[in-house]
Amino acid sequence: MPETTFVMLKPDAVQRRLVGEVLSRLEAKGLTLVGLKLMQLPQALVEEHYRDHKGKHFYEPLLRFVTSGPVVVMAVRGFNAIQRVRDLMGATSPAQALPGTIRGDFALSNQKNLIHGSDSPESAQRELGLFFAPGEILEYTRCEAEWLTGEGEA
Ligand code: RTP
Ligand code: MG
Repeated sequence: MPETTFVMLKPDAVQRRLVGEVLSRLEAKGLTLVGLKLMQLPQALVEEHYRDHKGKHFYEPLLRFVTSGPVVVMAVRGFNAIQRVRDLMGATSPAQALPGTIRGDFALSNQKNLIHGSDSPESAQRELGLFFAPGEILEYTRCEAEWLTGEGEA
């Protein structure tokens, strides 16, 4: 099923100049970029985004980290995009993230793990609505769509 998921390249990805590397992995796997912004996130938006983690030991440090510098926010579309992005990201902890995944290849700590991706259709919808205004997520047809998807996929 075609889905749109929310992806954020965290401040470590921007600072380490890994934005292009990570983005090119999503593109190479046939996913389509339909929204893109560089943002310095306000505290209130990050609190809302990570509200489910409130009270956890890593919550306050996480808020400081994510507001410490610019992030890149994206809307990414494709067949099973939510799970495919999570698979490309790899496990949260770099000790468990497999080589070949973004975190497995580049992440250095549990916190500084480069990328966020929505974990369910409900969170994708909620997070896209938090970071993108109506009209900022675009609809367009890719000329090479038939080469990058299988039969019945989109
Ligand atoms: P994300 O939400 O960013 O896509 O990552 P995730 O699902 O793999 O991990 P989650 O459990 O939702 O944790 C959210 C983010 O909090 C930071 N974290 N730090 N210091 C720690 O032990 C710790 N644990 C988690 C990471 O930045 C993680 O991605
Ligand atoms: Mg998460």
